[in-house]
Amino acid sequence: MSVKAFAPGRVNAMGDHIDYLGGWVLPLALPLGTQVGMRWIEGDHHRVYSDTHGEVSWPIQQPPAPDHHWFDYCVGALADLPRPVAVEIHSDLPQGSGLSSSASLLVALITARSALNDEDLSPLQIAQHARQVEVEHIGLNCGIMDQYASALGQHGHAMMLDCQALTHQDIKFELGDAELWAIDSKAPRKLAGGVYNQRVEECAQIASQLGSQDFFTMRGDLPAPLDRRLRHIQSEQKRVQLTANAASAGDLVMWGELMNESHQSLSQDYEVAGEALDRLQSVLAEHAYGARMTGGGFGGCVIALIAKDRVDQAREAVRRQYGETQWIGCTPSDGARLL
Ligand code: GLA
Repeated sequence: MSVKAFAPGRVNAMGDHIDYLGGWVLPLALPLGTQVGMRWIEGDHHRVYSDTHGEVSWPIQQPPAPDHHWFDYCVGALADLPRPVAVEIHSDLPQGSGLSSSASLLVALITARSALNDEDLSPLQIAQHARQVEVEHIGLNCGIMDQYASALGQHGHAMMLDCQALTHQDIKFELGDAELWAIDSKAPRKLAGGVYNQRVEECAQIASQLGSQDFFTMRGDLPAPLDRRLRHIQSEQKRVQLTANAASAGDLVMWGELMNESHQSLSQDYEVAGEALDRLQSVLAEHAYGARMTGGGFGGCVIALIAKDRVDQAREAVRRQYGETQWIGCTPSDGARLL
């Protein structure tokens, strides 16, 4: 027996670095993603082939420890299968560009193994399992946003996701004369993992200094830079609701302003943007309703809300004033599925 599964990447329209604190966020699944074929094989080794990285195999009784290999995700996702499998991976998602290529790979792998091995996991359980691999096996203390959006995305809708309750509401973006684009900065994301975990750790310090776990209502004096970190967390959370309102009412001017504010907050208060994303955002903001980094930061993508008749001009300005980028249309798409 063999199975095939697909899981998409995502962009986050608003609410970055608050999912791991139980906040509300506003992601949507993309049309691009990862396709995985999986079948049982004889022998005692798992075998994985990827069209971007090549082939690898390992003994199922002695899986290799994670060490920044591309296949670490596969080792984590295939752990505890009773028999070896052959896996084929095809992806049309730019890798390492902040569009959740790793969540898309994990969710596709777990959707496939769940079907092949009769585990019968729900989409939420698949997202939770994928996150668990990312945290426990890869060592990134991430939230649930990427895996949830990849597993439960819905065509035509973004989702307002409550990362505490793990429920969401569909949000329909009224784009009017505009388009939402993700623009890959092509900046290397080397620092991302370390700084990400450092921010999560700073949040633990905030909670202990203010004696509360409710990041969205807590008050009190904090030393720098923790005061700025909390200011981002609280202002970003408010922008999620305001963006959902503006975007579903088609108020593009308000939506764009919120995007610009969010970028400033992520850059100045949370300090996760970095020089390249700041430069790209400022070029885009001149030609758009608004623009902001999306996802974890330090390289990756900026999303921009641009009037249709200004897209060519914006692309040209980015080419001249920033350099090479890749543009990906943000069409809200369905989440993971068996093919
Ligand atoms: C990464 C993480 C997510 C989320 C974003 C920032 O994509 O995987 O859980 O924290 O960064 O919003």
